[in-house]
Amino acid sequence: MNNNALLPKLRGVLKPYRTQLLFAMAGMVLVGGFNALQAYMVKPLLDEIFINRNARLLHLLPLGLLGVFFFKGIFYFLYSFLLEKVGQSVIRDLRNSIYAHLNDLPLSFFHKTPTGELMSRIMNDVSMLQGSVTHALIRVLRDFCSVIGLVGVIFYMDWRLALVSLIFLPLAAVPIVVFGKKFRKISTTYQTKIGEATSQLHETIAGVRIVKAFGMEGFEKRRFAEKMQGIMDTLMLETRYSCLSHPMIEFLGGIGMAMIIWFGGTQVLQGNSTPGAFMSFLTALIMLYEPVKGVSKINTTIQQGLAAATRIFALLEIQPDIREAPDAIEMPPFSHSIVLSAVNFCYEGNPPVLKNLNLQVNRGEVLAVVGPSGSGKTTLANLIPRFYEITQGSLCIDEIDIRRFTLPSLRQQLALVTQQTILFNDTVRNNIAYGRNDCPEQKIIEAAKAAYALDFILDLPQGFDTVIGESGARLSGGQQQRISIARALLKDAPILILDEATSALDTESEREVQRALENLMQNRTTIVIAHRLSTIKNADRIIVLKDGQLVEEGTHGELLALGGEYHGLYQLQFAGEPMEGPL
Ligand SMILES: Nc1ncnc2c1ncn2[C@@H]1O[C@H](COP(=O)(O)OP(=O)(O)OP(=O)(O)O)[C@@H](O)[C@H]1O
Ligand SMILES: [Mg+2]
Repeated sequence: MNNNALLPKLRGVLKPYRTQLLFAMAGMVLVGGFNALQAYMVKPLLDEIFINRNARLLHLLPLGLLGVFFFKGIFYFLYSFLLEKVGQSVIRDLRNSIYAHLNDLPLSFFHKTPTGELMSRIMNDVSMLQGSVTHALIRVLRDFCSVIGLVGVIFYMDWRLALVSLIFLPLAAVPIVVFGKKFRKISTTYQTKIGEATSQLHETIAGVRIVKAFGMEGFEKRRFAEKMQGIMDTLMLETRYSCLSHPMIEFLGGIGMAMIIWFGGTQVLQGNSTPGAFMSFLTALIMLYEPVKGVSKINTTIQQGLAAATRIFALLEIQPDIREAPDAIEMPPFSHSIVLSAVNFCYEGNPPVLKNLNLQVNRGEVLAVVGPSGSGKTTLANLIPRFYEITQGSLCIDEIDIRRFTLPSLRQQLALVTQQTILFNDTVRNNIAYGRNDCPEQKIIEAAKAAYALDFILDLPQGFDTVIGESGARLSGGQQQRISIARALLKDAPILILDEATSALDTESEREVQRALENLMQNRTTIVIAHRLSTIKNADRIIVLKDGQLVEEGTHGELLALGGEYHGLYQLQFAGEPMEGPL
């Protein structure tokens, strides 16, 4: 993204704060004016007080100076406060819009992009942009006003001398132009590296158990240290350039100054100018070089900000590939069937995972999906809530293609229990009532009870108010599963998609999870990806997936009798499991 594309976007971000910015700018103009006035006051000081010995002015000038400082202070406070406020507001807005945008992006995006990297975009990149918006903007505008005022003073004092000194001003821009491009490139590298480091942090802290179990602490430490070294090297490269540009500008300024002293001094000695005018000129000139030098520093910040903005807007511009149709309708209450016809699916750029799948699930039915690992079962389950879009064919609920429904109305009627339990670092209550703040306590308790979770919840130190740790880390595997079942129960959606966890639980907790699931499936249309024999026993119908194809379909008895794929799977997966009652 180049500047031409970037600037209108940044302007758009600043737009809501136009009035505040205008006030801030007015403040800056005044501060710039007072700066010029300060420089100007050197002339009466020297010429009137020291040379003409004007005693009355000796009383007035210090008072005037106090006044100048006082008002400059007030306006300085006003504009810097306002600008900081605008900067912080912009940062808040940007973080909110990135987060909102992330929430709207489809699952496929998150499978491609590391979590840490996204966190880094929201936190680090945005704060880098803040540096530009507030600090750089403040200094650029203020310095610009001061420069205008001071240039006015030097021209007023001696326009020929002013012309000579201004020849050197543009030279100061040379390092800025030379280094500007480098700064931006370095900054992009830096942000990418920070993203990678955050990504490692996120992965290894979340997966600390595996890191420890495999004795990989040393490896991870080294990997992290390498990343930190890389970040430091990048920053030092930037520092080298920014440290270099300061003395370069200073030296160029020095040449100018030396010439002015020689030239201006000659003028005073020859009586063409007064010492006061010359000193006032010199003061203004010295004050003038300050902002000019500052520009090179600001340039670093601005380039960093632009690099960050490029990354931020690139993220904001990613269009979700799963979108509601413009004329999307609310999904009517589920009444009779889910039908997949000739469904093909492949993950972006990969070979097909589901091939020519035809399937009907009627209301009230329990359909079990079995098949070897990697056969596409979870993928199939992901298509119904439209987490992924089918590549070919159609998926209809009650004869209407699901692409015609609004996403919330479709997902409203689905309850999902995923293969990996997903819990939040919140209380048990909030995990069960996720997204339903107004849910009556009684319903939460009923859901917990039906999920066979009430007993252990009440045994927790704070009962329903116990915070369960990140991903429910303070609960056992079976307890986590039952909480997520309670959550699905409470949602009370007509269609249930159940991806059974593959990890085996001990028989006691297995039995409780099983009973919880049975409660969950009652009076619902269920598609269950079965890894347990007892689930299969409860199913009305079983389909067998193999390499993304539906190879067998029927009841447990029928499929066993067939002696085919299912028979083989049964021998492998389920034959060892204890069974209650005849099939
Ligand atoms: N996000 C993804 N991007 C690309 N390929 C994927 C993605 N998710 C899954 N796959 C591939 O799709 C195939 C089917 O995966 P899926 O998760 O549906 O298997 P599964 O039947 O649920 O297996 P399991 O019983 O082990 O859970 C696998 O070969 C897998 O490698
Ligand atoms: Mg799976």
